[in-house]
Amino acid sequence: MNLPNLAVAADRKKTLVKERKLDMEIKPIYKGKKYFLRTYGCQMNVHDSEEIKYYLESLGYEAVEELELADIVVLNTCAIRENAKDKVFGYLGRCKHLKKEKPDLIITVAGCLMQKPNEIEEIHNRHKYIDIVIGTHNLNELPNLIEEANNKKTQNIEVYSNSDVVFENVKYNRDSKISAWINIIYGCDKFCTYCIVPFTRGRERSRKMEEVLEEVSNLKEQGYMEITLLGQNVNAYGKDLDLGYDFATLLEEVAKIGIPRIRFVTSHPWNFTDKMIDVIAKYDNIMPYVHLPIQSGSDDILRKMNRKYTIDEYKKLFDQIKNKVKDVAITTDIIVGFPNETDEDFKKTLDIVNYCKYDGAYTFIFSPREGTAAARMEDKVSMEVKEKRLQELNNLVNKYSLESNQRLVGKVVEVLVNDISEKDNNKVYGYTDTMKLVNIVGGNELIGKIVQVKITDAKSFSLDGEISQE
Ligand code: SAH
Ligand code: SF4
Ligand code: F3S
Repeated sequence: MNLPNLAVAADRKKTLVKERKLDMEIKPIYKGKKYFLRTYGCQMNVHDSEEIKYYLESLGYEAVEELELADIVVLNTCAIRENAKDKVFGYLGRCKHLKKEKPDLIITVAGCLMQKPNEIEEIHNRHKYIDIVIGTHNLNELPNLIEEANNKKTQNIEVYSNSDVVFENVKYNRDSKISAWINIIYGCDKFCTYCIVPFTRGRERSRKMEEVLEEVSNLKEQGYMEITLLGQNVNAYGKDLDLGYDFATLLEEVAKIGIPRIRFVTSHPWNFTDKMIDVIAKYDNIMPYVHLPIQSGSDDILRKMNRKYTIDEYKKLFDQIKNKVKDVAITTDIIVGFPNETDEDFKKTLDIVNYCKYDGAYTFIFSPREGTAAARMEDKVSMEVKEKRLQELNNLVNKYSLESNQRLVGKVVEVLVNDISEKDNNKVYGYTDTMKLVNIVGGNELIGKIVQVKITDAKSFSLDGEISQE
């Protein structure tokens, strides 16, 4: 048993990061048994679930889409807002119920929420039916924990608070054969005052450039069309290694390998360098799309959030990216209702949205996370006011997404086709280089190809198109 501790999670003492090459032999001892995996949260969690899939499938488990058919359930959880937690505990209710009928069912909970001591205490005291609790730093222990759980029925909690290890040779059973995620940096040292991630993902640890490049080359050989470089803040890449390279260097080296489409998320507006902008502008296979979370339009709130930039600095960066990267799309994240956000502060958020006219924005109401600085701030703003602000913001944000989509109507754009559309079997869907979702009339033969598409219609969150005959 290993239990998490927030003080250890927040510790940023710089010790040398150790690289550990995984060399695991996993025998398919559970052949014929079934697994059900559900993922909450961000792309990082989606990618972690591909690692979890590797372990489950190597053990012989087969995926099922229905919880009721499973011999093992794995919930890969998120802690970013309270509703992420509510969803998980809601679903656990269903799992508990199922276990009454199927006592051998193994219930596993993984991911960011499990890094939180309160949640662990709750699970330990009130959710005895959960067999395995595993954190974000030790997924490689999952095969062993599953074997132990199959042999003896006691709850096992294995969560480490922080990490100074970077694993290499990690195997993934990837969801897609077209588009792949690649971790380049783990953890976050930014400590934005509202955010739980530095506690759930530990200190910043970069992978060595040669390891990332090898992974990219392998994916190219396997025929992957697109990769997305992942980090809570990719701009911080390399800083902890002190090997003379940074994110701009890595991005350029990745571009040279020649995968058709390269993306990256997320870039903090702080330390987004000119060199990065130049590299993005220079290479055709680096997609003209930047997710640049602003969080608030008020300098006062940004300071309280510990975001390390002012609105003037953000605008300058925004304009530089727009000017240098041809036809670039920029999206953002915004939080409303940060403790004591005034009407004036909120108006400034609307102002910056009017200035940037984002291609898209993810908007949230501030959710206090235990252990973070903002959760300790007194807050006089009512939920009613926060909800009204969110609504007003969403109306504005959606107006600009629609406008940016409408500008594409009648134009021919390149789309990488991902799959058949779930809603309509006569259509496929894919994304433009600027990350806009397009539904296209067409069939299987288009999947995995970059096609020229004429845009016929625009909505706030998607486009319709047809294969261009031009
Ligand atoms: N690393 C990314 C953010 C990851 S979290 C970055 O820095 O850009 C994704 C988004 O969730 C954040 O950008 C923020 O807008 C939102 N978020 C994070 N913590 C939150 C909280 N406590 N309440 C509401 N929204 C939050
Ligand atoms: Fe959270 Fe800020 Fe780190 Fe992003 S940069 S993960 S918002 S602490
Ligand atoms: Fe959630 Fe963890 Fe991602 S808290 S947003 S799954 S890093």
